[in-house]
Amino acid sequence: MAKIKHVLSPKLFLTLLLTVAATAAAAAATNGLDSPSSKIRRPWPFKKLNKPVVLMISCDGFRFGYQFKTDTPNIDLLISEGTEAKSGLIPVFPTMTFPNHYSIATGLYPAYHGIIMNSFTDPVTGDKFNKGLDPKWWLGEPLWVTAANQGRKAVTYFWPGSEVPKDSWTCPKEYCPHFNLSVPLHERVDTVLSYFDLPVSEIPDFLMLYFDEPDKEGHDYGPDDPRVTAAVSKVDTMIGRVIEGLKKREIFDEVHIILLGDHGMVTNCDLKTIYIEDLADWIKIPADWIYAYSPVLAINPKWGDDVENPGEKNAEVVAKMNEALSSGKVENGELLQVYLKEKLPERLHYSESSRIAPIIGMVGEGLVVRQNRTGVHECYGDHGYDNKYFSMRSIFVGHGPRFRSGKKVPSFENVQIYNVVAEILGLRPASNNGSSLFTRNILSPFGTTGEVE
Ligand SMILES: *[C@@H]1O[C@H](CO)[C@@H](O)[C@H](O)[C@H]1NC(C)=O
Ligand SMILES: *[C@@H]1O[C@H](CO)[C@@H](O)[C@H](O)[C@H]1NC(C)=O
Ligand SMILES: *[C@@H]1O[C@H](CO)[C@@H](O)[C@H](O)[C@H]1NC(C)=O
Ligand SMILES: [Zn+2]
Repeated sequence: MAKIKHVLSPKLFLTLLLTVAATAAAAAATNGLDSPSSKIRRPWPFKKLNKPVVLMISCDGFRFGYQFKTDTPNIDLLISEGTEAKSGLIPVFPTMTFPNHYSIATGLYPAYHGIIMNSFTDPVTGDKFNKGLDPKWWLGEPLWVTAANQGRKAVTYFWPGSEVPKDSWTCPKEYCPHFNLSVPLHERVDTVLSYFDLPVSEIPDFLMLYFDEPDKEGHDYGPDDPRVTAAVSKVDTMIGRVIEGLKKREIFDEVHIILLGDHGMVTNCDLKTIYIEDLADWIKIPADWIYAYSPVLAINPKWGDDVENPGEKNAEVVAKMNEALSSGKVENGELLQVYLKEKLPERLHYSESSRIAPIIGMVGEGLVVRQNRTGVHECYGDHGYDNKYFSMRSIFVGHGPRFRSGKKVPSFENVQIYNVVAEILGLRPASNNGSSLFTRNILSPFGTTGEVE
């Protein structure tokens, strides 16, 4: 009973009790059974909304722990009344913005949803992806498509991939604004809130809102800079604007808010750099073999037609590079380890795609890889590193009818979130890399908050 008090006003609770009692009486009357052990379910606890609604908010680059940098009363409110991933949300590898936002949306690891980095060259076709909207790149079924396919109404506000047309999803202008980072955060919030002023039957089931902060400040100055603290404060104010807007409309307790981020942030400095040219005594790697340097080193060796077994030659490159890096003679060499993609640790799930370059280097936390010593030397912030690093974690908070108040759950990978949203909305999930059992850890069964035991 104590549980119920956080969620429902006494008046509503009374109404529900009566409803439950009436429903139970009706059920007992129709089936003639009286089983005291069976749980009595109540209908959806709506006052204003007649269906489950999910509002997902992503704060780009919100590293786990940023909530302790400064006062964040609004995020704290969601945490104390909601369910939190205790030690943060674990991003997928590579811990970059596009791969992670699209993993959250599809429940798939990047190798399966196709967005294997923010920008990349397909080693097979030579085609370049650079955050473009050509549908051929965007595999899997994101939540807005799942919703649209099943007759629900989705709104996306700048979520990576949401402007790509797919199946029933056409990215309608009024429900899918065109990406434009000049739109101030408060305007994004107000637009999202305005959808709740539509007639009840037109209110969207599922809304996704994207904030590009505090990522920008984290990149520019590193995570420990006061300007990052200011950005965290600003984001908290925006969350407060969401909460206030929902309260004003008397639906704060009815909307499921999921607050999360795509990845963390770590300081990196050119002082902590590995130079490819330092490997030259062991192996010369031409710059045009290298698709990306760091935080993920991606190499696609270009062998001539005379080479019969490129796979073997690639393995030789990997062996030579690792020999050099572990020789003790390459500056910071021990902080880079090179793999054939098939040999990467399985926990990274980063091999099953022809878009991933044949050779991948796992760069140590906060390290930089460059071809040579020309260019700028400075410190800043970055992400993209191995998802085992705590600095790459972000936050997860769920608030609303299906999330228990004050509950902490162990950290989990963001591919689990697709099933959680599908479950709340009652959608049939597409096949994905989340576990169907996970939703039971994090969501209370439908109607539990009003259960009479
Ligand atoms: C982007 O948003 C700004 C601010 O709202 C607006 O002035 C500008 O016209 C928009 N740009 C485009 C291309 O829509
Ligand atoms: C250093 O590397 C950059 C590419 O990262 C290249 O453009 C430049 O020519 C290289 N300089 C030398 C001296 O090799
Ligand atoms: C991820 O999901 C896709 C689609 O269902 C499946 O093909 C793939 O085998 C899964 N991979 C892992 C590692 O679970
Ligand atoms: Zn990001």
